[in-house]
Amino acid sequence: MTTTTAFALADPELSARLTERLGTVEARLREAVATTDLLVGATSTHLVSAGGKRLRPLLTLLTAELGDPDRSQVIDGAVVVELTHLASLYHDDVMDDAPLRRGAPAAHEVWGNSIAILTGDLLFARASQVVAHLGQPALTLQADTFVRLCMGQMHETVGPATGEDPVEHYLQVLADKTASLIATSAQFGAMLSGCSPEVVATVGRFGELIGLAFQLADDVLDLTSDGSLSGKTPGTDLREGVPTMPVLLLRARAAGPDATDEDRAAVALLDSDLSDDDRLAAAVATLGRHPVVEETRQRAVAVARAAVAELAPLPDGPVKESLVQFADALVDRAA
Ligand code: IPE
Ligand code: IPE
Ligand code: MG
Ligand code: MG
Repeated sequence: MTTTTAFALADPELSARLTERLGTVEARLREAVATTDLLVGATSTHLVSAGGKRLRPLLTLLTAELGDPDRSQVIDGAVVVELTHLASLYHDDVMDDAPLRRGAPAAHEVWGNSIAILTGDLLFARASQVVAHLGQPALTLQADTFVRLCMGQMHETVGPATGEDPVEHYLQVLADKTASLIATSAQFGAMLSGCSPEVVATVGRFGELIGLAFQLADDVLDLTSDGSLSGKTPGTDLREGVPTMPVLLLRARAAGPDATDEDRAAVALLDSDLSDDDRLAAAVATLGRHPVVEETRQRAVAVARAAVAELAPLPDGPVKESLVQFADALVDRAA
């Protein structure tokens, strides 16, 4: 069970309060996935029990501090965003053929694709059951988010249209598949704690940008992370040919007038058969050393900075400081 926040918050009082609330969220998550059906119980508790950083519920609890954080709907909102995230992970691991998630075998590795997909559907349905009690604005936001998650994954799978810039296309994919739910996590906290529509919109813009920065940082981690820290297998995206920002930047360079032999060799390696473990390890190492990784990291940092600038209308104090810390932690992470 999560008993601490994913990163240390500067304000000890706020940190203690959020830690306690995260404990309540954790208990509510367990309740939401509990069932007397043995198989469904095993599949749907699989990823909740495997761990995870609980960043989205933490963000909901944090933005709720801008209003009345004691409203019971705040906890419900935090439960909804983690359930939605969990559901998307079951589906994502099928699509990416990922072997590991949260340090455990991905659900499709244990029970097969059909059960993994159905478990994801079930968790989306559980999220709907919780959000159904939160009123029309929350329901609409959740529905819109679900649409964006699907569109993001769909557009990632299909790729850019002819003539469309691959990097611009990819930024929209990231906004939809990842930033949408992080923005919603921030908005739920403000909305369900009774903040004004202006504050809800402010934290929504912040969440959208930190979500983008977070996914750019995740693209770097696929190349540079230690699998034992991230709980995921490095190079999974490369092997499956799933586009990531470093790869897109590399391809753009290699096709441009300033391409170096190093760029062209790296692309040739990427385009070779990466089902071979040694070749995949070589591709991860080669790309991990390439300047496009630092360029991606710099993009993540710049977007996180833009996110922080969006917080200007909020009152100064520990909540705003913690949101800034949250943005920093998302781009400066190992897992
Ligand atoms: C993983 O999200 C999926 C992405 C959007 C990159 P997290 O890195 O928040 O995963 P958990 O919840 O900690 O497992
Ligand atoms: C995750 O995308 C986004 C969603 C789950 C919707 P990725 O495929 O890039 O994330 P990881 O690296 O597997 O966590
Ligand atoms: Mg994936
Ligand atoms: Mg994916």
